[in-house]
Amino acid sequence: MNLLSAEDLTHTFEYELFNSVSLNLDPKESIAIIGISGSGKSTLLHILSTLLKPNGGRVKIFGEDIALMDKKRLTKIKRDDLGLVFQSHYLFKGFSAYENLEVAAMLSKQNIETPLLEHLGIKECIHQKVTELSGGQQQRVSIARVLTKKPRIIFADEPTGNLDKQTAGEVMSLFFEYCKNNNAGMVLVTHDEVLAQMCTKVYKLQNKELVRIK
Ligand SMILES: Nc1ncnc2c1ncn2[C@@H]1O[C@H](COP(=O)(O)OP(=O)(O)OP(=O)(O)O)[C@@H](O)[C@H]1O
Ligand SMILES: [Mg+2]
Repeated sequence: MNLLSAEDLTHTFEYELFNSVSLNLDPKESIAIIGISGSGKSTLLHILSTLLKPNGGRVKIFGEDIALMDKKRLTKIKRDDLGLVFQSHYLFKGFSAYENLEVAAMLSKQNIETPLLEHLGIKECIHQKVTELSGGQQQRVSIARVLTKKPRIIFADEPTGNLDKQTAGEVMSLFFEYCKNNNAGMVLVTHDEVLAQMCTKVYKLQNKELVRIK
């Protein structure tokens, strides 16, 4: 069964962003979505991750149409199974990095794994307040928070946008490893063509269509 599928999605804000968008994500797979600024990549990611209702079409998670799910079921799936790494981090600012992870661990009944903190290079700063961390450190804490949940599907919008090339590469390998080892899948929005090519499938949003290029 697919982790995620989209059938015939359309969406319009002031003008039509895209129509007849379809894709499937299987366990251990990663999908990259590329396209010029303003083409609708983030909007599509919001729709796929249940945050925004499309004007047309269906999104299914684990084979279930999310528009037909009762609210409780959808809330549970969002809490336990979906991991969102977006451009703004939404960390709790008054807390330390570690406390932010504790909240995630508690909500999803998982443990905070020290190797994860080591791999992300945030072990040393983990007890500092979020407001005392650099942008790139905050980004890595938010990635740690998402992975601590042990999600089945990761949605990532330019997750390494604030990071230098080397750190970005390490963080992305972590995502790929995570998917392989946990039967999870990832939808990644990126402007980085090299990074996109590391994914199982690559799609380009252009001329209002989602075209598969790998
Ligand atoms: N909530 C909204 N209300 C109205 N228009 C919106 C909304 N969100 C996005 N848009 C418009 O939809 C278009 C696509 O935006 P989106 O953020 O999806 O692009 P993007 O491909 O992610 O761009 P970028 O690469 O710059 O992040 C833009 O013209 C934007 O102004
Ligand atoms: Mg965007």
